[in-house]
Amino acid sequence: MMAADEIVHGVPPSLSAKVVGSFAYLTVRDRLPTILTRVIDTIHRNKNKFFEEYGEEGIRAEKQAISLLSKMRNEMQTDKPVIDLTDGLQDREPWNQYLQRQQTLMEDQEPVSWFKSPWLYVECYMYRRIQEAIWLNPPINEYDVFNEGKTQSYFESQQAVMALCTYLEEFHKNMEDISKNQLFEHFNKLLKVSLWGNKCDLSISAGKENSQKTSPIDSLDSLQPFILVDDSNMVWSTLTSLERPGQLEKTKAGRVDIVLDNAGFELVTDLVLADFLVSSGLVREVHFHGKSLPWFVSDVTAQDFKWTIRQTMGANHRWMSKSGAQWQRYMKEGVWSYHDHPFWTLPHEFCDMAGDAPDLYATLQEADLLLFKGDLNYRKLTGDRDWDHAVSFDTALRGFGPAPLCSLRTLKANVQVGLQPGQGEKLTSQDPDWMTCGKYAVIQFHSPKSEQT
Ligand code: F6P
Ligand code: MG
Repeated sequence: MMAADEIVHGVPPSLSAKVVGSFAYLTVRDRLPTILTRVIDTIHRNKNKFFEEYGEEGIRAEKQAISLLSKMRNEMQTDKPVIDLTDGLQDREPWNQYLQRQQTLMEDQEPVSWFKSPWLYVECYMYRRIQEAIWLNPPINEYDVFNEGKTQSYFESQQAVMALCTYLEEFHKNMEDISKNQLFEHFNKLLKVSLWGNKCDLSISAGKENSQKTSPIDSLDSLQPFILVDDSNMVWSTLTSLERPGQLEKTKAGRVDIVLDNAGFELVTDLVLADFLVSSGLVREVHFHGKSLPWFVSDVTAQDFKWTIRQTMGANHRWMSKSGAQWQRYMKEGVWSYHDHPFWTLPHEFCDMAGDAPDLYATLQEADLLLFKGDLNYRKLTGDRDWDHAVSFDTALRGFGPAPLCSLRTLKANVQVGLQPGQGEKLTSQDPDWMTCGKYAVIQFHSPKSEQT
């Protein structure tokens, strides 16, 4: 049943674990506790390291953090009310206010609890509570519980990273002589590599290894049928419309913002795409947006971003190290820049951004194109609601549109809009798990100017 507020605004209800058997339900019942158990194991495995670094204090902090996390796992598994955050981090207030907001939306004044609330909210809340457990326990309060998995995913994708950096080198070598059509071909390939890079997140596999081993360029043709909506032409038109007729290639204006998702292989695909955009002269600047705390197992933090560039620079492979050095230069020169904002690790739908994080909204308005990577960003773009699959992407965005934007997402959660009438039903009959298995993808574009459907 729709909550009162939702009926008033005519939007479908949020996905929630209260629907027994739904993907949200299975996530809260099975996958989230598994992720928490892995976090606890990781902290415990690092006990000796904490002892070596901090002595007895480190051991005490390790025990305390584990005890807080076990307590949370129990609250989750027994559907206890969601409670206020108690740490001193700067986003504590917005989180606690959001809990109040959720409470006003609950039917029959029931307490906001793990299984009865919006799935998007409780899943984000779990990651924020992990941060609280770590933060409350100095001296291990800077520890990233997901770091090991993220670095492992990078190392396991080395073959694919080499293949991509070699591709980039070939492009740079021949760049002067290529036609506009050939430039489009390169763009199209690298956009799709970045799209499929999103297959490699670690939260869908509950933290188990999930990396890319083969050359990503070679797989593109066979993956094309699995792209359910492919608006890459519109992305290309947006980029090429940034050209100023009569001016030299190098003076083209334009800023692309990439709202990052996962570290490891996916981040490399994003950096390769950004390198292409800048070195081809299509855009002048790329802004990357990452997370300010460890998030959804594999999401990029500032630390991961720097580490990945340094690691690529130091690789024992000619084109990898050359790419890494170039990326470092882009950062130094300000052609590339990394940004984080607390809003990215709040549970809000993006349609709330203009009201709740007007500074971030204003920053995004300065971009000529926004690329939103991954599943969680898609859930936030569409509000993680039970939309009919044929509803347009524009409708589901509910007014969010600081600039032309495109979602590059492999499907891992059961929300999908913008399909042809009947397409969703056909997919369900052929492949019941199509929305959650990570096999399908979308490149979905929206321009606030044209408001196309
Ligand atoms: O559905 C699986 C899941 O863990 C979701 O909870 C989340 O939306 C998603 O995967 C994370 O994927 P991504 O890294 O692509 O945002
Ligand atoms: Mg992610």
